[in-house]
Amino acid sequence: MMSYFVYLAILIVIATLLAWCSIRLWSSRGEHRFLQWVGAALGSLLALATITACVLVTIALVKLNSRRAPVPNLLVSMDPASIERGREIADGFCGGCHTRTGSLTGGVDIAKALPVAIGSMVSSNLTPRGVLPSWSDGEIFRAIRNSVDNQGRWLMIMSFANASQLSDRDIRSVIAYIRARPPAGEPTPQPSDRLNLRGLLFLGAGLLPQAKPTFAGVISSPDKEASARYGQYIMSYQDCRICHGQALTGGTPGQMPPIGPDLTLVKSWTAQQFIATFRTGTDPGGHQIREVMPWRTIGKMDDIELTAMYEYLTRIPSVARR
Ligand code: HEC
Ligand code: HEC
Repeated sequence: MMSYFVYLAILIVIATLLAWCSIRLWSSRGEHRFLQWVGAALGSLLALATITACVLVTIALVKLNSRRAPVPNLLVSMDPASIERGREIADGFCGGCHTRTGSLTGGVDIAKALPVAIGSMVSSNLTPRGVLPSWSDGEIFRAIRNSVDNQGRWLMIMSFANASQLSDRDIRSVIAYIRARPPAGEPTPQPSDRLNLRGLLFLGAGLLPQAKPTFAGVISSPDKEASARYGQYIMSYQDCRICHGQALTGGTPGQMPPIGPDLTLVKSWTAQQFIATFRTGTDPGGHQIREVMPWRTIGKMDDIELTAMYEYLTRIPSVARR
């Protein structure tokens, strides 16, 4: 936060200096009137550009601090079944971004995957070595559902991804699992998102991806079973669509990279082959899947969950190929 105001202060000083020089040039009575005018015009243009930058940075600062969502009043139950369900979600999903050296120890700079360098967005250490012990259960719930941290700051990557779609019950289970973890890893940066000047300008100009809207209602989930209905639920909170396209029929150029292929291709696989693909990283055709595809994390889901996704994927409409 501090450094953001330093950017703003520097920009304001530059704008003031430029404006002052322009006025001096314009009003002084020297011998080279024409050159003075040209200089004054150039200076004014630069001053105007710098003032625009000040406005964009200010808009960005407002955006970073104005995401609002209620903190639910809750105390999660630490029963073994909830903790176990929380472990499944953490291993098969959250870990994809929050695990680098050990389970949920964070430290992955997700902004590195973006096509332009806009700063760093480091996934947090969710074990007690991070900041969560001082957060209430309700504040952690709000961070997962609505991407706001305990200080009211917008959690950018969380708001672009789909963890918000987890049911209330599943979010409570994840919190129970997080609370049951031993401390591990190193503390991660706070705040987690640090935009550079370009990132602030992009954000102010509305050029970054849109955050998902906040939601204050209740989300329920079907009971866990190897059905297409449950598969649909899993794929609502997993991020498959970010890479494989809204219809899961393949990403499109211009989207956030990497572009995933058409997933209706699994219609020609058996459920066993589908499961084996995620467990081994090699598809039935012998193709070795690259690490940009989070197959290791997805492969940590159990057979029921993987079969449920298979059931769902084999029922989505295929697209006609031109
Ligand atoms: C697509 C990557 C991604 C996924 C998936 C993801 N996170 Fe995050 N998470 C991040 C990043 C990056 C941050 C840092 C703030 C930001 O940019 O959102 C973060 C921040 C958080 C925070 C705020 C902690 C703090 O220190 O401010 C919590 C809590 C959290 N994540 C929990 C979870 C849980 C629980 C899951 C799984 C249900 C999950 N996240 C899934 C990337 C991810
Ligand atoms: C970060 C982007 C990303 C996410 C998230 C993602 N994928 Fe992928 N996926 C890819 C890319 C890229 C490939 C191609 C990898 C290759 O061929 O080396 C791929 C490949 C695959 C393949 C193998 C296709 C083949 O040719 O054998 C399957 C199946 C698949 N993804 C399913 C999923 C499912 C299901 C999810 C969500 C649970 C998911 N992916 C999430 C990017 C992603």
